[in-house]
Amino acid sequence: MFKFDFKLEELEDDENILDIPNDINDHVTPGINTISSVPFNVYSISDLISTLPSAISYSPVKIPKINSSSSATTLYRRDLFDARYQLISEDDDSIPTDDRNNDNENLLFIDAPSDLMPGVYEGGLKTWECSLDLAGYLASLDLDRSVIGNDELSILEIGCGTAIPSLYCLKYLFSKPPSAQTSRTIIHLQDYNAVVLKLMTLPNVILSWYMSPASEAYRKTLPEDQDSELAMEFTLEFTEDLIAAFQNSLTDYHIEFRFISGSWEDTNTWITENRIKFDLILSSETVYQISSLPHLITLLHNSVSNVPPPLCLIAAKVVYFGVGGGVESFVKSVTDRGGRSETVFETKTGVARKIMKISWS
Ligand SMILES: C[S@@+](CC[C@H](N)C(=O)[O-])C[C@H]1O[C@@H](n2cnc3c(N)ncnc32)[C@H](O)[C@@H]1O
Repeated sequence: MFKFDFKLEELEDDENILDIPNDINDHVTPGINTISSVPFNVYSISDLISTLPSAISYSPVKIPKINSSSSATTLYRRDLFDARYQLISEDDDSIPTDDRNNDNENLLFIDAPSDLMPGVYEGGLKTWECSLDLAGYLASLDLDRSVIGNDELSILEIGCGTAIPSLYCLKYLFSKPPSAQTSRTIIHLQDYNAVVLKLMTLPNVILSWYMSPASEAYRKTLPEDQDSELAMEFTLEFTEDLIAAFQNSLTDYHIEFRFISGSWEDTNTWITENRIKFDLILSSETVYQISSLPHLITLLHNSVSNVPPPLCLIAAKVVYFGVGGGVESFVKSVTDRGGRSETVFETKTGVARKIMKISWS
């Protein structure tokens, strides 16, 4: 039977594993600095499962140890080339279009040399550097004591893209037996582009389950050769049995998902109208565009629960050269709105980056 025995040290040295753009400035067209309002859509897991391809290829993502209380860990995410291939090869009806992006626009951004097209595609198909910091920071916390011990836990990842921080939370939840997970967890994953949620976010969520002890019973049903062969090739087949086992695990672990596409402006309307509050709010590489900050801050402000105190963590590069955004303008916008920002992680290695803990009186 296949065991989790990948030679990760070798794999992690492979330069093809990660394709992390470092500087948003390299990817943003100067002069274009507004992101249009795009109506929100909320998808259940079943809505998105129908858009899955028959199989995906994936790679490990090493999450470095970021301080003395954390330990290095490995997550998994779908390969970007594989998502691109699905987008290009499938016919028009197989991937329901975003309200804003029709398939032609999707093909435009997937083929474009730029990794981010403001107002069309906001870069969610790639894994950006600060998301690794944020997952590393979560690995340094005692999540049980910080948030997961709550009777009902509601998590929001804003501008999730490949959703690395949420994948860490899932890995944590799935590392325990379902009997240890008696309270309900609702995970909300938001991205500007619905196509990102379908091509990248959901496949990564399923991968996270598959690579965890929670999938063990399902994996035991697979012929040994098939399981190890797929693992060697870093391929995962989305068979009906796998999807059923995944959904059963979600029920056993009391985990629910909501996938939200659209701009923050419109997402905020949904959250406010439905009075949804979150205990854990995560976001990485989302403060680069100054014109979007007011909507982001409103979303952060309106979505925090009061009891028990929520944990809101924002990871960002200190400066996004040329684009205008960065930590300073974000912190100023938070304090102007009556919030507080505390830096809980900082590094000057490579591009200067921070993680900020945001709270409101
Ligand atoms: C550079 S990507 C970062 C993706 C991911 N968090 C990471 O760090 O790998 C920026 C993300 O922010 C989201 N985003 C940016 N501006 C937005 C806006 N005005 N409304 C909604 N989402 C937005 C996009 O969905 C996109 O996925």
